[in-house]
Amino acid sequence: VFVLDGTTVVEAAGQAGIILNQPCGGGGTCGKCRVEVLEGAPEPVASEQAVLSPAELADGWRLACQMTIRGHTVITVPPQARFFEQKILVKGRERAYSLDPSLRKVCVSVPEGSTDDPRSDMDRVRDAIAADEYLRVDLELLRALPGMLRRSDNRVTFILEGDEIQNVESGDTTDSVWGVAFDIGTTTLVGSLMDLRTGQTAAVAGRTNPQTHFGDDVVTRISYIESHDGGLARLRARLLGAMNAIIAELCESAGIECESVYAATAVGNTTMSHIFLGIDPTSIGHAPYLAVFREAVDCRARTLDVAINPDANLHVLPNIAGFVGSDTIGVVLASGMAHDDRVQLAIDIGTNGEVVIGNRDRMLACSCAAGPALEGARIQFGMRASEGAISKVVFNDTIETSVIGGGAPTGICGSGLIDAVAQALDCGLVDPTGRIVAPDEVPEARRESLVEHDGQPAICLVPAERTRMGQAIVLTQKDFREVQLATAAIRAGVQVLMSEFGVGLDELEAVLVAGGFGNFIRRSHAQRMGLLPGVPHERIEYIGNAAATGARMALACRSCRAEAEDISRRIEYIELATRADFQMHYMDAMEFPSGDH
Ligand code: FES
Repeated sequence: VFVLDGTTVVEAAGQAGIILNQPCGGGGTCGKCRVEVLEGAPEPVASEQAVLSPAELADGWRLACQMTIRGHTVITVPPQARFFEQKILVKGRERAYSLDPSLRKVCVSVPEGSTDDPRSDMDRVRDAIAADEYLRVDLELLRALPGMLRRSDNRVTFILEGDEIQNVESGDTTDSVWGVAFDIGTTTLVGSLMDLRTGQTAAVAGRTNPQTHFGDDVVTRISYIESHDGGLARLRARLLGAMNAIIAELCESAGIECESVYAATAVGNTTMSHIFLGIDPTSIGHAPYLAVFREAVDCRARTLDVAINPDANLHVLPNIAGFVGSDTIGVVLASGMAHDDRVQLAIDIGTNGEVVIGNRDRMLACSCAAGPALEGARIQFGMRASEGAISKVVFNDTIETSVIGGGAPTGICGSGLIDAVAQALDCGLVDPTGRIVAPDEVPEARRESLVEHDGQPAICLVPAERTRMGQAIVLTQKDFREVQLATAAIRAGVQVLMSEFGVGLDELEAVLVAGGFGNFIRRSHAQRMGLLPGVPHERIEYIGNAAATGARMALACRSCRAEAEDISRRIEYIELATRADFQMHYMDAMEFPSGDH
């Protein structure tokens, strides 16, 4: 490709159709965008010197986000720097609810006006619809109504959203009532197309949130918005592009026009909801981490450029706090825990870990800044759960791995990481403090797994000759520290909520594990490293992408929408940052459990 002098390698690669991983948002700190410069390598800049070893720099390795191109350059992009679509979980637990969508279609024949019947057009429409409530109508529709009645021989279908007439269509179109529900995650987007006559989900599609190019976590994205003119619009445009592509895919697979979709709902963490609505989220990024709004928001699709019918109503579910969003409301809604007598704990393990505890009488929620380590970021060979990622690790006589898509691996994703850490603890390669032990501290058969990587102790999972890039995949001492930090944050958050609620492990009747990532992890391994509480296995239940399920429920059921508002008001938010007991639990949780459960 031809690029102007001073173009970054990330941009040049983009022009060549190669999208690079940028977990730190191009900040030059994560090292995940490293590429090999075969010709034309410039002098390394300070950030490259901080992240790459002298040997790597001498071999021509540079950071694609930092290096700018000055003349003819030849670069190889290794597989682990490439961004691939990841495995996205689209299903989740769904409790029974009644089908009663806020969107309705009513076909009526409106009688002609005459001297004997001098009612206005709208009075005749209201009487024909025979609605209980007074129906509101906007000016544009009023302007279009007489022409539409004339052209349709007075037989028309009204599209009603709550007590408002949204639109009018010629003839009887009541056989087509569609809505779309979105879960806007930091990492993944999931859209579901629902037939609102039956409550059936007609199609589900997921994509990676393209904002990941601007950073893996919400804090990095907020700082991008703060430091770049037009940053909010850019991030929003990326998100919207992917959402509209999902809508097009859903409608195509159901064989309908996007214009036929007249309702949409969305859940997301608080930052994602702000960005989607075009509301500046920067106040969430700094203490005291305040959101601009908490309540549900309703608007027309055209206001947000969502590619469904422009007059469709779009309902964004309410938030709880700056770091606990409507996706958590979705989890609570789908799990039914707000109606249950039993005390249940719901954990949504993602870049940010959200935890809710409670029953029908009381509910508490907190957010644990776990960071993206458990999803593979900030781990030397960590990657998303996409093709080439080790998703499962088994310590037999040798270490065996299974790889997404088969073939040789390029890195390890969260579920593989949890397997590896739990078993490294079990066989004594790592002690409870998270230290990789010295070779003479383990039986001889295990010693060959202990290696050195960049001057630090490491555990070799796959030797160089069996990987895609010809470099051994290892877990370094620093990786174990990252996992410890992430696990400790969630574990300490769970402990604070349990003590605030006044229950011990015995009284915890169910542990619900939500989130796309959560479904792929093994309970015993997650418990071994302290990520999930030590309750009997049968009390741990995976509830899948419950946030997306909650969004579908709010689309298909008016009372679920009302319940979401109620949950948002009822949940007590616990701010961990200011609590001394969190700090204490966090320090304790830095040590891995001793392995007696
Ligand atoms: S170092 Fe380049 S994206 Fe993180």
